[in-house]
Amino acid sequence: MAKHGCQTAFILLFILLISVSYTEQLQSSQVETLLRIKLLLNSPSSLNSWNNDTDFCNIEPTSALTVVCYEDNITQLHIVGDIGAPQLPQNFSIDSFVTTLVKLPSLKVLRLVSLGLWGTLPSKFMRLSSLEILNLTSNFFQGNIPLGISSLQHLQTLILDSNNFTGRLPDSLGSLSSLAVFNVKNNSLYGSLPHSLGSLENLRVLVLSNNNFSGEVPDLSCLTNLQVLDLGHNVLGPQFPVVSDKIESIVLGNNKFTFGIPEKVQSYYQLKCLDISHNRFVGPFPVSLLSLPSVTYLDIAENKFTGMLSENLPCNDDLYYVNFTANLLTGKLPTCLLSDSKKRSVAYAKNCLATEDENQQPISFCKNEALAVGILPHPHKQKQASKVILALSICGGVIGGIVLVSATFLVVKKFLAKKEAQKTLPRFAAKNSSTGYTSKFLKDARYITQAMKLGALGLPAYRTFSLEELEEATNNFDTSTFMGEGSRGQMYRGQLRDGSFVAIRCLKLRRNHSTEYFMPHIEMISKLRHQHLVSALGHCFEYYLDDSSVSRVFLVFEYVPNGNLRSWISEWRVRRKLTWSQRIAAATGVAKGIQFLHTGIVPGVFSNNIKITDVLVDQNLVAKISSYNLPLLSDNMGKAHLQNFLGGSKEFKSARAKNQDKSDIYDFGIMLLEIISGRLIDSRNELEIVKDQLQDSLMADDTSRKSSVDPAVRNSCSGDSVKTMIEICCRCLLKDPAERPSIEDVLWNLQFAAQVQDGWRVDSQSSDGSPISPLQSSRLKLSIKQ
Ligand SMILES: *[C@@H]1O[C@H](CO)[C@@H](O)[C@H](O)[C@H]1NC(C)=O
Ligand SMILES: *[C@@H]1O[C@H](CO)[C@@H](O)[C@H](O)[C@H]1NC(C)=O
Ligand SMILES: *[C@@H]1O[C@H](CO)[C@@H](O)[C@H](O)[C@H]1NC(C)=O
Ligand SMILES: *[C@@H]1O[C@H](CO)[C@@H](O)[C@H](O)[C@H]1NC(C)=O
Ligand SMILES: *[C@@H]1O[C@H](CO)[C@@H](O)[C@H](O)[C@H]1NC(C)=O
Ligand SMILES: *[C@@H]1O[C@H](CO)[C@@H](O)[C@H](O)[C@H]1NC(C)=O
Ligand SMILES: *[C@@H]1O[C@H](CO)[C@@H](O)[C@H](O)[C@H]1NC(C)=O
Ligand SMILES: *[C@@H]1O[C@H](CO)[C@@H](O)[C@H](O)[C@H]1NC(C)=O
Repeated sequence: MAKHGCQTAFILLFILLISVSYTEQLQSSQVETLLRIKLLLNSPSSLNSWNNDTDFCNIEPTSALTVVCYEDNITQLHIVGDIGAPQLPQNFSIDSFVTTLVKLPSLKVLRLVSLGLWGTLPSKFMRLSSLEILNLTSNFFQGNIPLGISSLQHLQTLILDSNNFTGRLPDSLGSLSSLAVFNVKNNSLYGSLPHSLGSLENLRVLVLSNNNFSGEVPDLSCLTNLQVLDLGHNVLGPQFPVVSDKIESIVLGNNKFTFGIPEKVQSYYQLKCLDISHNRFVGPFPVSLLSLPSVTYLDIAENKFTGMLSENLPCNDDLYYVNFTANLLTGKLPTCLLSDSKKRSVAYAKNCLATEDENQQPISFCKNEALAVGILPHPHKQKQASKVILALSICGGVIGGIVLVSATFLVVKKFLAKKEAQKTLPRFAAKNSSTGYTSKFLKDARYITQAMKLGALGLPAYRTFSLEELEEATNNFDTSTFMGEGSRGQMYRGQLRDGSFVAIRCLKLRRNHSTEYFMPHIEMISKLRHQHLVSALGHCFEYYLDDSSVSRVFLVFEYVPNGNLRSWISEWRVRRKLTWSQRIAAATGVAKGIQFLHTGIVPGVFSNNIKITDVLVDQNLVAKISSYNLPLLSDNMGKAHLQNFLGGSKEFKSARAKNQDKSDIYDFGIMLLEIISGRLIDSRNELEIVKDQLQDSLMADDTSRKSSVDPAVRNSCSGDSVKTMIEICCRCLLKDPAERPSIEDVLWNLQFAAQVQDGWRVDSQSSDGSPISPLQSSRLKLSIKQ
């Protein structure tokens, strides 16, 4: 054992001796070169210690000076002068300097920072063909970045920040295939950016800020590794750059970017920093940016973003800097930005927000400014707008008092039913209705599904649409996109730029009301989002050009393409009928939708007059109520309604006390009647007949009771679940509203019916002799083993 230890010590000593005797010894020519460099640099203080005897390969590396040797050659040279070092005197020659430098051809890393170097980089510099990292920050280089730069084929990092390089970026940059970091900030470069930038597929960092670059940013979507894009302080624009969705930082501040933020930005799940301040952005501010899973820094100051913020918007916990200053935002600041004790900087002066402090403009300012930048009607729309006004002033007299109408999508629904599932649209399953997502939950990108990016409902955030966008979506409200006309306004089907379909309701208004007047209604509508409602996606105002009052309101809804509930129950020629379980699920969905309308928003929305044809079914067979008592925009809105509108939960209680909520229960009962019996209930007479039949069946035994159930499902439903469904249906249809069950009671019963049915299905299968499928049983075994 001792002997063994002795041997090891010996070997170690031997190695030590060899390595000492073999310390790297620079060739004398390289020593000369270094000393000459010192001389040419006018002997900066960091090189004071250099002389003929210096063992260059063994100088202790410092932040100001590092020399690294590999075998006999110098591979790294870092010389950092004093911050703000002045330009070297006139007798300095960049040509002699570079001629000397290239005598170190093995250099892989060269960092010459703050040394006062000046002149045009001569092309012989490219003889340093092994260079991988070049950092020439804070010198006084002038002239173009040499074309020959592309011959530095090993270059991974090229940093030329804070010099006085001028001219355009050479197109040949594109052939630096290993380039990962390219910084040229704070120079005097100009012209358009070469398209070849888009082929640097290893690029991670691209910093071009503080130059005078102009024009469009080339397509960078192929740079799948790009994390940092800094284009600030140039004259780039107008289109938002196209980058891959792994981007972490986008800085576009102080440029000429115009138009809006593309929808795609809302899916940049790794985006931490977004600075688009001091540009000319117009259009709605996508509020979902506040809750991007990684976002920490968001600066949109000094643009013309419009749109309404609301108190209940979600935001990312880690968001530490938000600057909304000087935009055209309205509404209220999200509480998540304020209530927090966290160190967070939030600036929002010079908008039209409803806050206590000053520094806000009146709403009319934002509205007029929005008009001025042409977000809303374009100048060329002027003719059309005045026509609208004329038509309205005529119609106004004819129609007289326009009444508040429950949003009947009647024609729409017929259209949809006919249209049926011609196309399966790429929508996203809404698995649950929890709101927002936390950043922590989404830290791991692999778990991010499209649905999550769009929020829990699979819907994009509620937003303001521009008229142009809606015109584009509907091909200028072309007749081919017309879906129908309700009692108030027309309905169009549109396809947004991202491919998604929407239903657009267009409401003409009588004049004299400003945007402000509609804001509480819009705020209410924006909250009408639920898995079992056809939800509102946004709105758009059109204004009269003379006095800026609102001329038309467009409400944008999700488009549910799969037919209405009736067609899924009685139109068996068109499609397969829903099973018994699916019927219970659909009814439960509708009940949840009603519950949300009654209690999920304040004030509640009652007396919705829902019919089975108003319930649309999406491709996951989720039932959605399309026609609810929408707080529509009406200039002669009844006083009663307005009160209802302004009242709080007190109003709800009194509504309940007055059994206002029970008319929806009755309507729900009629729907259940049809769901259970499979018979069309279109008249009072029919309703009474079927109701009596069901009522009577409650007294009968299971088998005869089932005879009142739709024959299509009669043999696959459990007796108890049928009984529960019939019972609740009959109770909903009681004459005295006070005796009808509450929506919670209804829901409880439906859920009970579903449970019984589920249990029955398992039981009836096990009595077939196949209690568990082979797959299930093997899983069982596995889990027992574990
Ligand atoms: C360095 O060595 C050279 C000759 O090799 C000599 O001419 C020079 O004077 C020496 N310089 C110093 C500072 O010792
Ligand atoms: C060192 O540099 C010389 C040329 O100056 C070259 O021939 C030699 O291969 C280099 N050695 C290494 C290990 O790179
Ligand atoms: C350049 O001029 C300075 C004085 O301005 C002098 O100290 C220096 O030695 C000169 N350098 C060369 C390389 O001639
Ligand atoms: C380049 O040099 C500057 C100045 O020393 C430094 O701040 C920067 O981090 C360097 N960049 C790289 C990639 O080494
Ligand atoms: C930009 O570069 C100039 C020299 O070209 C320098 O004086 C200035 O400090 C630099 N500014 C920044 C912000 O780096
Ligand atoms: C940069 O170079 C241009 C000419 O190439 C010159 O006019 C300008 O003064 C220089 N700027 C600085 C800060 O040296
Ligand atoms: C930037 O470029 C524009 C033309 O594209 C020119 O008019 C302007 O003077 C330049 N500004 C600077 C600071 O070089
Ligand atoms: C927000 O942006 C404005 C305009 O750029 C700026 O003046 C202000 O200082 C910023 N606020 C904060 C807190 O950074």
